[in-house]
Amino acid sequence: MSGAPQRFAAQGLGAVLALIFCVGSGAAAPGQEWRLDDACPPGFEELAGGTCAFRSFYEIYGGSVDHGGLRAALPAIRGAARPQLIDLGRYLFFDPLLAADRRTSCAHCHHPDLGYADGRGRSMGLAGAGVGPARSGGAALSRGAPTLWNVGFLRRLFWDGRAASLEEQARGPLFAADEMGNSPEQLEADLNTIPAYRSLFAAAFARDAAAPITVAEVVRALAAFQSSLVSFNSRYDRYAHGDAKALDAQELDGLNVFRGFVARCSQCHIPPLFTDSEMAVIGAPPVPGLPYDAGAGALDPDPALRGAFRVPTLRNVARTAPYFQAGQFKDLDAVVRFYNDARGHAVPAGQALQIHWHIPMSRPMLSDADVAALVAFLGTLTDESMAPAVPPAVPSGLPVVAHSGSSLPR
Ligand code: HEC
Ligand code: HEC
Repeated sequence: MSGAPQRFAAQGLGAVLALIFCVGSGAAAPGQEWRLDDACPPGFEELAGGTCAFRSFYEIYGGSVDHGGLRAALPAIRGAARPQLIDLGRYLFFDPLLAADRRTSCAHCHHPDLGYADGRGRSMGLAGAGVGPARSGGAALSRGAPTLWNVGFLRRLFWDGRAASLEEQARGPLFAADEMGNSPEQLEADLNTIPAYRSLFAAAFARDAAAPITVAEVVRALAAFQSSLVSFNSRYDRYAHGDAKALDAQELDGLNVFRGFVARCSQCHIPPLFTDSEMAVIGAPPVPGLPYDAGAGALDPDPALRGAFRVPTLRNVARTAPYFQAGQFKDLDAVVRFYNDARGHAVPAGQALQIHWHIPMSRPMLSDADVAALVAFLGTLTDESMAPAVPPAVPSGLPVVAHSGSSLPR
């Protein structure tokens, strides 16, 4: 695989200078030239109209998206975007200017080194966000940050499925008091005082630079960037496309358990996306010290939705421990043992849940070898070969979250 694209060679020095001169000032250094990448990200092909279309081997397979075979088509990805818009979204995603405390970027909770999640069971808001020991000033949220890999294919967003588009979703963290704590007015005012952003937005949206930057543009750019996070070149994919040697014997056993009618994992985590974007009640254990999280049931009185959560993708799942909506399980072995136990065993007394029909009525009775094989199989879904480059600096001049390859503490 080609590895991360090197998009920044041309502006590396300028970016470093911007960092030195601009911290806290919110202005671009004189002479600093910010440019947007005009090439589509890896995995995307430029169409005649100048937008980037996702391309993968899965396109050659016909049939229904939901049939669950190894060679099945993917669901549709959200609409194509211009490369410049994707690249603007990348700057915004890594820019702490988007948060009230000017320390918290999207990447603090959706970290490129942690599968675009944050390694915490429950994310920490504002000043506490990030990885490693909690910084002072933040408070734990009630849920954890899901991975953003392949998020452009999902029909429902958030653990409780409450957002239908990435644009709608992004307004959540930006303006939630306990996440990024910003306001639309403040965000627009901050971005509009930075000349570099004014020219980058004009370039990305092919519009007049005199027009003010709007929140609607910010969320479109963030959505375009997030939709470029694609992962379909794992060892599993090589196997699915016909490379019989891409999985070892144990991993193959695991795939068979995953697809078999005892464990039935693939009925909800449908390949090749490994989710069907549906809501499902599986009876997750409660979180000690927190009120019971009824998921979609907290938003909709339909009794069938009580305890329902959106089926998460399992792509790059080995990179995103701990698991479930609030990190109830520390590793994949613990997750698989949960499914191997009796239906509904973890549901707290007094909660009337309608557990999904794909959760078997009788205990699956998987052997320890089956459990280990399933865990090994889940590890074959890892692929970060299309990871975008983390920008060395962002137009606000605020420091970018530390990541592998940078020397700052995380
Ligand atoms: C303070 C930590 C934090 C920050 C900062 C943050 N997020 Fe999140 N993100 C979360 C949590 C927690 C959830 C799950 C919330 C829920 O489901 O109720 C989430 C969910 C999401 C989802 C839904 C994914 C899915 O599979 O349904 C997307 C997309 C997303 N965030 C994008 C962003 C973007 C874009 C930004 C920056 C504007 C951002 N996040 C900033 C913690 C954070
Ligand atoms: C009825 C649909 C359904 C079936 C069947 C199912 N899952 Fe899940 N899976 C879910 C839902 C919903 C969640 C999220 C639960 C939560 O957060 O409370 C989930 C979460 C997970 C997670 C954690 C992902 C993360 O990012 O936190 C893993 C791993 C997983 N399932 C693997 C499996 C395996 C392995 C099997 C088969 C033994 C299986 N699932 C069967 C619906 C299902």
